[in-house]
Amino acid sequence: MGILSRSPTYSRRSEDNGMKLLATALFSVTFGILLGLSFPSLWITKASLPQNLLRSIAISNRHSDIAAPVHAIDISKVCAERLPAGIIASESDLYLRRLWGNPEEDLKKKPRYLVTFTVGYKQRHNIDACVKKFSDNFTIVLFHYDGRTSEWDDEFEWSNNVIHISVQKQTKWWYAKRFLYPDIVARYDYIFMWDEDLGVDHFDAEEYINMVKKHGLEISQPGLDPEKVCTWQITKKREHVEVHKETDEKLEGCSNPHRPPCAAFVEIMAPVFSRDAWRCVWHMIQNDLVHGWGLDFALRRCVEEPAYEKIGIVDTQWIVHQLIPSLGSQGKEEGGKSPGQGVRDRCYMEWAMFERRVDEAEKEYFKSLQVQTSSNSTTLH
Ligand SMILES: *[C@@H]1O[C@H](CO)[C@@H](O)[C@H](O)[C@H]1NC(C)=O
Ligand SMILES: *[C@@H]1O[C@H](CO)[C@@H](O)[C@H](O)[C@H]1NC(C)=O
Repeated sequence: MGILSRSPTYSRRSEDNGMKLLATALFSVTFGILLGLSFPSLWITKASLPQNLLRSIAISNRHSDIAAPVHAIDISKVCAERLPAGIIASESDLYLRRLWGNPEEDLKKKPRYLVTFTVGYKQRHNIDACVKKFSDNFTIVLFHYDGRTSEWDDEFEWSNNVIHISVQKQTKWWYAKRFLYPDIVARYDYIFMWDEDLGVDHFDAEEYINMVKKHGLEISQPGLDPEKVCTWQITKKREHVEVHKETDEKLEGCSNPHRPPCAAFVEIMAPVFSRDAWRCVWHMIQNDLVHGWGLDFALRRCVEEPAYEKIGIVDTQWIVHQLIPSLGSQGKEEGGKSPGQGVRDRCYMEWAMFERRVDEAEKEYFKSLQVQTSSNSTTLH
């Protein structure tokens, strides 16, 4: 898990206010839809909304920073009681529209794939190379962690056509949780959530999608350059195969050959999710655990069994993990610890916390199952 090496650098440059506004607006939209209300309708009809609905929103709002799963209010139901079905738009997309003309003619293209990169200005040349690998069949979103966004427009023509979201010093999983709510990205068949330091000379996006479809992969990643050291054996690109789904050597850490990190495993640097898998993974991302460590071991819970059949590495399209160290400097010196050490320690701490939460949730779940089916026995796994 080399996330340390591919994370944000520290920059004090003041952010572009327009972009910040965009981020804020998008955030509001996301949040609004989270509550089952579209932004414009909230805006226009707030005064006419029943008071108790507003109150219940305010209440659910107040507790929304609790990381552990809270009891979700089924707002869609509340909403459906008050609105005729025909006017409810419960899902959205990230398509850009015009301010004029017939709305029906706004979109020349409705991309079915979404790709996001978490970026800093320093890595712009690599991102330029990456973006050029994705045709107009893809919606492209850049999450900026250093507040520098307008420079991109000056330098790259494509920059004017992609979505920029600028929030300083956050991680990929923080952005994903806030801006890629499943109902917002419901139009996309596949979602790429990539880091900024990936070499894409041997990668073709359309071919990648073909492979993923052909082999029924719900969660995948491109193989990693075999010449480089890999953290996990399974992610290494292989010759003469299109995809692979398990390690080719018996590793000591694998008590079960069908379980991570020997199968049903991809790393968090360059995952690609199907729509269904993403809906599940989004729910598993914890609000306070921003580094995403441990997620890769839990992803198998988000596909149907046998999970090792649905999660895999694409070998024909592969990437080079360039391991550009930067996250460390994003931290803060504290208690005699260097910034880098502080971030690293937090990554490990989050990993342990995440595992504990998953274990506890699973125990609770099985306990409730046993209560329900007390007349017969349930096998735990
Ligand atoms: C975009 O998708 C369409 C439909 O799947 C396909 O025919 C076309 O070749 C794709 N574009 C590129 C540049 O691959
Ligand atoms: C346990 O009981 C429930 C309800 O009676 C039933 O639906 C389920 O199939 C049973 N499971 C097993 C493993 O027998």
